[in-house]
Amino acid sequence: MISFQDVSFAYPGENNILEGFSLDIKEGEQLAIIGANGAGKSTILKSVLGLLDIRGDIYIDGLKLEKKNLKQIRKSVGYVLQDSDNQMFMPKVIDDLMFGLINYGMSQNEAKKKSEEVLQMLGIAHLAEKHNYKLSTGEKRMAAIATVLAMEPRIMLLDEPSAALDPSNRRKIINTLNSLNITKVIATHDLDLVLDTCERVILINQGRLVADGAVKDILTNRQLLENNNLELPFSMV
Ligand SMILES: Nc1ncnc2c1ncn2[C@@H]1O[C@H](COP(=O)(O)OP(=O)(O)OP(=O)(O)O)[C@@H](O)[C@H]1O
Ligand SMILES: [Mg+2]
Repeated sequence: MISFQDVSFAYPGENNILEGFSLDIKEGEQLAIIGANGAGKSTILKSVLGLLDIRGDIYIDGLKLEKKNLKQIRKSVGYVLQDSDNQMFMPKVIDDLMFGLINYGMSQNEAKKKSEEVLQMLGIAHLAEKHNYKLSTGEKRMAAIATVLAMEPRIMLLDEPSAALDPSNRRKIINTLNSLNITKVIATHDLDLVLDTCERVILINQGRLVADGAVKDILTNRQLLENNNLELPFSMV
């Protein structure tokens, strides 16, 4: 479903962040990307949307990531950004949800109905008419996830989906993700969320793939985690 082939990337004027990065993600797979701060997790996710000038190739659902395919690729990929401030740009929450839907051809009424359903499902219907800039950090994160869910993408990229969420909202997101039978790639420091949502995990250190395997093997390997500035998940201690 997503294939990285020998991908390298450097931010302008910097050393390579990704170097010779190759990875195949199958359709329907739930993959977690873990690694210390600055390891390159967000950079990997950003590269899938064609936001970075990479070397090497990325294929998404059989389409090569290049300018002429970008529009189609972005239709099937939903991306929850690490920083929700960059995700929400309309005045009110409901406007943000409706914007994407209307853009893809839904009528105003249909888009409103769909948006309200998604907010309801996430238990945040009360935020619909609220101004984005007045939301708390966690509320904004929930709203940002709602905007992506409303689009019903075939592939979801989630960057720290549980950051700033209270236990009840965190659980709601975990349950919602688990109920979706789509391809998901989750970059996170929340290793307990990984245990609850993913089967496969890759460990990144300085832009390189250090480990790739079953969650139950990698997240129980204290030595491997500690060597890469991580710790065992709380539930494993
Ligand atoms: N726009 C940028 N310009 C220059 N360097 C950048 C830029 N964005 C990120 N970097 C650098 O690239 C490296 C990887 O960053 P990235 O955001 O991918 O890390 P991450 O694994 O997502 O970290 P975190 O856990 O803190 O979210 C870091 O060293 C960071 O300083
Ligand atoms: Mg990041």
